[in-house]
Amino acid sequence: MNYNNCDFVIFGAKGDLSKRKLIPALYKLDKKKILHKNTKIIGVGRANWKKKEFLKIIKTSLKKFLKEKIKEKVWNTFKNRFSFCNLNVNDTKKFFKLKKKLDITKIIINYFAIPSNLYHNICKGLYRYNLNLKNSKIVLEKPIGNCLKTSNKINKNIGKYFKESQIFRIDHYLGKDTIINLLYLRFSNTILYNNWNKKHIDHVQITIAEEIGIEGRFKYFNKTGQMKDMVQNHILQILSIITMKEPKKINSKNIRKEKIKILKSLYFIKENEIEKKTVIGQYSHGKINNKKVSSYMSENFEKKNTNTETFVAIRIDIHNDRWKGVPFYIRTGKRLKKKCSKIVIVFKNNIPKTFNNFKNSKTNKLIIQLEPNEKIYLNFLNKVPSLKQKCELKKFKMKFTYSKNFKKKSIPESYEKLLLDCMLGDQSLFVHIDEVKQSWKWIDNIVNIWKKVSKKPELYVSGSWGPYLSKKMIEKDGRKWI
Ligand SMILES: NC(=O)c1ccc[n+]([C@@H]2O[C@H](COP(=O)([O-])OP(=O)(O)OC[C@H]3O[C@@H](n4cnc5c(N)ncnc54)[C@H](OP(=O)(O)O)[C@@H]3O)[C@@H](O)[C@H]2O)c1
Repeated sequence: MNYNNCDFVIFGAKGDLSKRKLIPALYKLDKKKILHKNTKIIGVGRANWKKKEFLKIIKTSLKKFLKEKIKEKVWNTFKNRFSFCNLNVNDTKKFFKLKKKLDITKIIINYFAIPSNLYHNICKGLYRYNLNLKNSKIVLEKPIGNCLKTSNKINKNIGKYFKESQIFRIDHYLGKDTIINLLYLRFSNTILYNNWNKKHIDHVQITIAEEIGIEGRFKYFNKTGQMKDMVQNHILQILSIITMKEPKKINSKNIRKEKIKILKSLYFIKENEIEKKTVIGQYSHGKINNKKVSSYMSENFEKKNTNTETFVAIRIDIHNDRWKGVPFYIRTGKRLKKKCSKIVIVFKNNIPKTFNNFKNSKTNKLIIQLEPNEKIYLNFLNKVPSLKQKCELKKFKMKFTYSKNFKKKSIPESYEKLLLDCMLGDQSLFVHIDEVKQSWKWIDNIVNIWKKVSKKPELYVSGSWGPYLSKKMIEKDGRKWI
């Protein structure tokens, strides 16, 4: 493969995202010989660092977050790629300092690992010194704004300096191999492709459960909440991938076009349905892995009551020909019993009457565990061997695990994949402006109703599966969480 010769600029190189994700991903790409030999990495921040101090931070981050031993040979090449540019991005006149470090004949990837209120000034600074050329790309992290209005403002400001084809909006879930696989799983297997619709599917569940709490990020999280932190981006993205029509071609234009159609078909929940179809919760103290953990409120340094949700469950409906009448139950929360992201497809019991009266004769389920322990299994019924006239059926699992079938290390980290695609200019796994708009519209509608009706989160014990009302929400429809 021909990997483009490009330079990386990391705005906010000293920050958590850069240390935790970007530096390790770039190291791995270098180890796999994917970075071009002339690629340079320029860190930007307000620190007055010499290269030596910057390299010390890089090495410490790798030691902490790489999940494998640093190879001296790779490190010796990797470290020579770095330089640091002391720059306050609000001082747009000083962007000449950055320009001096760049070779503008190359592709330049500007990664905004920095709060979104600074995006506009970075764009202005780049524009001021002609650094928004055709070969220049910008990579933005979520969240893009806090509602439709603020996200539109950010996108509008950025759009003054960069074209949509130059803008790479990250949702790191889209870079996960198990998520990318969803399209291939759905559209390359006849058995799934032909049954993936309202005629054969009873309902779908999407769970993203975290064991961790807010990890000291109270100030950020309390303004955001689980709905905007997880549903607006990751869950709606997963939902659109598992429900979209097959793209005409496997490219960014066609994939994103089909995803946008789904987001436009999401049913807008009405005020009189909000109690029935949405549940919010907040974690109280409890135990996770036998360790005592404290409540959300005890992490609240403001010591005022807060209604910010750390758990959300929603029944989502999609009003199009393929999905009308099929509920999609989603739930996501912090401090839940187990870290786990999975999709459960529950098929209808479309079987002949004569076979519908066996004990155990339940529906087939396809369970796609995205992480951890990536696996896919299908529940099915089989006759228990015997000479009896009356047959007995038993439920079994056909199981496929990544660990058995692929070497664990062969699953790339999502940031590796996303940075590589960015170098190659492939936007398939990046979020289009229309997807951002549509998902905010849908989220804002619910959040505004919650505000209007003063919806309060139900407390749930840390280490449980969330509020009791979440269980009730799905049970009222005659189903249960799997
Ligand atoms: N951390 C994650 O895992 C994660 C995950 C998803 C999305 N994000 C998003 O990614 C962005 C960065 O997050 P983060 O957690 O890395 O934040 P962070 O740890 O606070 O880092 C932000 C960086 O921005 C730099 N900075 C702030 N103001 C600046 C200015 N005026 N000029 C130049 N540099 C400035 C700071 O460096 P100096 O102090 O040296 O200037 C700091 O290193 C945020 O938008 C966040 O929402 C983060």
